[in-house]
Amino acid sequence: MKAPLTSSMAMNQMVRKARISTPFIFTLLAFIIFVVILYGQDFACTFSSFDDHQHLQTLDNSFHNSKLHPSFVERKEKKNKGKRKKRLPFAVGKTAEDCDIFDGEWVKDTVDKPMYEEWECPYIQPQLTCQEHGRPDRGYQNWRWQPRRCDLPKFNATLMLETLRGKRMLFVGDSLNRGQYISMICLLHRLVPEEGKVMENSNSSLTVFRLKDYNATIEFYWAPFLLESNSDDAVVHRIQDRIVRKGSIDTHGKHWKGADIVVFNTYLWWMTGLQFKILKGSFKDEVLEIEEPSTEDAYRLGMKSMLKWVERNMDPKKTRVFFTSMSPTHAKSIDWGGEEGGNCYNESTLIEDPEYWGSDSRKSIMKVIGEEFSKSKAPVTFLNITQLSSYRKDAHTQIYKKQWNPLTPEQKADPKSYADCVHWCLPGLQDTWNELLFAKLFYP
Ligand SMILES: *[C@@H]1O[C@H](CO)[C@@H](O)[C@H](O)[C@H]1NC(C)=O
Ligand SMILES: *[C@@H]1O[C@H](CO)[C@@H](O)[C@H](O)[C@H]1NC(C)=O
Ligand SMILES: *[C@@H]1O[C@H](CO)[C@@H](O)[C@H](O)[C@H]1NC(C)=O
Ligand SMILES: *[C@@H]1O[C@H](CO)[C@@H](O)[C@H](O)[C@H]1NC(C)=O
Ligand SMILES: *[C@@H]1O[C@H](CO)[C@@H](O)[C@H](O)[C@H]1NC(C)=O
Repeated sequence: MKAPLTSSMAMNQMVRKARISTPFIFTLLAFIIFVVILYGQDFACTFSSFDDHQHLQTLDNSFHNSKLHPSFVERKEKKNKGKRKKRLPFAVGKTAEDCDIFDGEWVKDTVDKPMYEEWECPYIQPQLTCQEHGRPDRGYQNWRWQPRRCDLPKFNATLMLETLRGKRMLFVGDSLNRGQYISMICLLHRLVPEEGKVMENSNSSLTVFRLKDYNATIEFYWAPFLLESNSDDAVVHRIQDRIVRKGSIDTHGKHWKGADIVVFNTYLWWMTGLQFKILKGSFKDEVLEIEEPSTEDAYRLGMKSMLKWVERNMDPKKTRVFFTSMSPTHAKSIDWGGEEGGNCYNESTLIEDPEYWGSDSRKSIMKVIGEEFSKSKAPVTFLNITQLSSYRKDAHTQIYKKQWNPLTPEQKADPKSYADCVHWCLPGLQDTWNELLFAKLFYP
């Protein structure tokens, strides 16, 4: 907002001159100045980006520093408050202000989708290569997300790669975020020759995809709760009896510093059937001091910690932070009017009810996210993929993935008993998440 600020300083001088002139001229000048300021404001904003209500953004403080008459300041603040606009790093354009890109419908598209082939992307983990593992249908690859009020910008891999030059893009979270991470790499890697790229598994927490000629990295950091927990080993982790340590975000957060674009997620691991445990002291204490809050309160703790970490460590003038909402599961057919005992296994069609939401816990967690984000000044862009993904009961890996343990005869006889209704085939749904990330990054 430099333009209006400098011009308003010049105007202050004009006002001072005007004061020694007749009151009539002063009034006239003041009126002209007011119009000019508003015009300058709008002018500046055509070059800046627009936030929507889901994009929580700190106000530009330059107005508080200007020496404008208080009534002008007030007017501008009022005008600003509604829209909360500010130029964002990496923005090259903007999405129509009245368009919520997460509100829309799936449209069959066999021309532009999938955006790459499964066999073309060697980075997809065997848990997500569904065709290789015998999935008989491929219709799940041929869907495009169509927002109700605008079109999504076309994913431009060149723009993404050029933007990443000399930069570090970091995904932090659980296996679902890892899926989105791999999808991003699959969307980009074709433009980079073989010798210019390498996938490095630095250690169990951090995976680094290095683009040598770009001096860039795209990284994934395993931290399913973001906070320190007893599930932090990416390979060997306990499923039962999870314990998360309060106030421990810096344990992992110290490894995230210096990233230019961060994409967080965290959800499924908080949803354990057992009583959730929060540790107050340290895992090294002899007697662990444990609290047992509700899932919502525990999750709220996670949100508060993440938002505080972003406020303290990310510079909103140079970096962007995203948070991907809950990835839905499709474990019970009765949720969408299917047969009792069924799940996502053998599903190849979408849920057509636009009101479909699935399990209730997602609703209460969404409420927690909404509350904590609106209280925070952290400039985190919310990727609200929950609803649009909940229509996609067809897109899970089902049984078409690498099985780590040999299947028992009982399992073989009843495939749905071992179907994975949590993770998503690639290419597939998670490419759309990245198209939405692309839209929010470059056309906020
Ligand atoms: C993609 O981005 C690059 C780099 O900004 C630009 O030169 C190119 O025109 C874009 N391509 C399309 C199809 O918009
Ligand atoms: C590579 O990028 C880093 C920032 O990630 C920067 O500090 C460094 O100077 C860059 N190196 C070159 C050779 O451009
Ligand atoms: C993992 O490796 C990275 C890069 O080598 C290093 O900075 C980081 O400290 C390591 N993280 C852990 C948890 O050991
Ligand atoms: C899969 O679904 C189709 C209908 O879409 C049905 O005809 C078929 O019997 C189902 N297969 C299994 C193994 O459940
Ligand atoms: C995300 O989208 C859903 C459905 O479109 C909506 O109900 C929910 O309020 C949104 N969440 C937030 C935090 O904006």
